[in-house]
Amino acid sequence: MTKVAIILGSTRPGRNGEAVAKWVYDIASRRGDAEFELVDLLDYNLPHLDEAMPPSLGQYANEHTKQWAAKIAEFDAYIFVTPEYNHSTSGALKNAIDFLYAEWNNKAAGFVSYGSAGGTRAVEHLRLIAGELQLADVRAQVALSLFHDFENFSVFKPGPQHEGTLNTVLDQTVTWGKALATVRNKG
Ligand SMILES: Cc1cc2nc3c(=O)[nH]c(=O)nc-3n(C[C@H](O)[C@H](O)[C@H](O)COP(=O)(O)O)c2cc1C
Repeated sequence: MTKVAIILGSTRPGRNGEAVAKWVYDIASRRGDAEFELVDLLDYNLPHLDEAMPPSLGQYANEHTKQWAAKIAEFDAYIFVTPEYNHSTSGALKNAIDFLYAEWNNKAAGFVSYGSAGGTRAVEHLRLIAGELQLADVRAQVALSLFHDFENFSVFKPGPQHEGTLNTVLDQTVTWGKALATVRNKG
């Protein structure tokens, strides 16, 4: 069965990302087309990138890198749940992405973002990063507004329209995740 990770991309105490990622997971889990798992960056405790060799060589020296690589390698596709920090994604998520290379290649990615402008600028940066990693990013995205989808900017109350959009993101991500498995399994 196709496996999809929902990656929680913020690590701050009191992060809004936790409620958003749980909402994504709850809706995704009701689908029968893939297995979904919530992957919380906090559980991997990655330092700033501390590998001597470029990730594209796949020669990981540190135990934390090996554990992170083994987890990411399990999946066919990813839903990145990202905040917007200074018009980009979080440093923690960028760092976690930078640790690896082959584990991301020829897989699919969808995005769920939040911020004052829906986190859309963070996702535009992530799409550029995905290109370098040969990670195929789907068109649809969920953009949650800090003004309209959170009470007091902190209690997550998503508008009802977002569930349909999330399912479109999941449809596209699962479809491409399945298709790209055939590319990875060639030869
Ligand atoms: C360092 C920092 C920079 C931020 N920069 C932006 C920004 O450029 N645009 C925006 O819409 N929100 C910005 N925000 C607000 C965040 O989108 C908001 O705090 C969100 O809840 C952060 O996600 P988190 O709670 O999961 O960490 C920023 C927040 C932080 C902490």
